[in-house]
Parts: sequence; structure tokens; C-alpha cells
Amino acid sequence: MRVIAAFIIVLAVASTNSQRISTIQLDGTQYFISRLNPYAPELNYFLAYQYCRSLGLQLTSFETKEKADTLTQYMKNAGLNKYEFWTSGNKLGTSMLLWMSTGLPFNATFNYLNHESQIDQADPSINAARHLDVSALGKSCVSLSGANLEWTLSDCGAVKDFICEQTRCYYYNYGSIPVSATQG
Ligand SMILES: *[C@@H]1O[C@H](CO)[C@@H](O)[C@H](O)[C@H]1NC(C)=O
Repeated sequence: MRVIAAFIIVLAVASTNSQRISTIQLDGTQYFISRLNPYAPELNYFLAYQYCRSLGLQLTSFETKEKADTLTQYMKNAGLNKYEFWTSGNKLGTSMLLWMSTGLPFNATFNYLNHESQIDQADPSINAARHLDVSALGKSCVSLSGANLEWTLSDCGAVKDFICEQTRCYYYNYGSIPVSATQG
């Protein structure tokens, strides 16, 4: 109960306009690394996703090798590799790994999943397309873990640090049509 109360307070503080949060900018992308912000709690995957949204950000995705390498290098140099961090990667809804924040599948030109996660990923009993079977959700969310911050299939309910980023959608021009509520 105290944990929940503390969490609600943290979210409330984070959502006031005047709350100062620290982000870093690396190769043109703005990141919020929870570990660098004293008020940010460690959270499970789902609450980390929600926390990023409450800041107007998204849980981070690695679309390119360069982006993954740059952020990982920065975090190792900053000594952050003794913690574990959620990314938006998961295979919760399908057999394929997807970046939840961008909707994109993992980039097939590079594979940073650690050895154990590749075995989990290849196991057809874990991997089969399925109706959402809550008992099988275990290791379905991708964290950066270990001294090299390797991509690791982790238990989505585990509490970890997380990385948010500011994302833009490059792929669509929405061509919004202005309408009013009284128009049919
Ligand atoms: C996949 O990764 C390569 C290497 O970083 C990059 O050049 C390419 O643009 C990426 N593809 C997508 C769809 O982002």
C-alpha cells in the first residue's frame, strides 16, 4: 500500500508543469534515463511504458544499429551498466519481437539479443503464435542487462529502470482534415 501511494505521488509530481526532468540529447534524440532522475521509480514494463507516456515520451526503441551502439556506449561510459533498463521491445502479442513504441519489427540486419534470449526466442513452444496466454507472458519484454547492456528477454513484471525517448513518426503524412462536431 505504501509503495502504491508513493508511486501515485511520484506520478503526480512528474505530471505538474513545473516538474523539472533531466533528459540527455545524443545524436539528435532526446532520452530520459530513469536512473539519472532521482524521483523516477523502478517499474515493471507496463508501468515504465505508462510513465514515459506521462512525460510525453515513449519507451525507447532501437531501429538502427548506430542508435543502439551510441546509447549503449554512452551508458557504459556513464557507469549505468550496473542497472537494468526496459526498452519498448516485446513479443507479448505475437511470435515476433516488436518495438511497442514505434510499431516496427526488430531490424533484421543486426541482432543484439543475448545468447539465452535467442534460445528463448527460437523455442517454438514459447514462440508459437497464440491467443494471449497470460501464463506464458514470462520472459517476453526486452531489457538492457548485464555489463554490456545486452538485449535480454526478461520477465515483464520485473521492476527495472527504463529509458524513454522523444519519437517522431517519419513514415506518414496524416493529411488531417479539420472538422467540427456539428459536421455530419
Ligand atoms: C536497419 O539497420 C541498419 C543499420 O543500422 C540501418 O541502416 C537501416 O536503416 C535500419 N532499417 C530500418 C527500417 O530502420
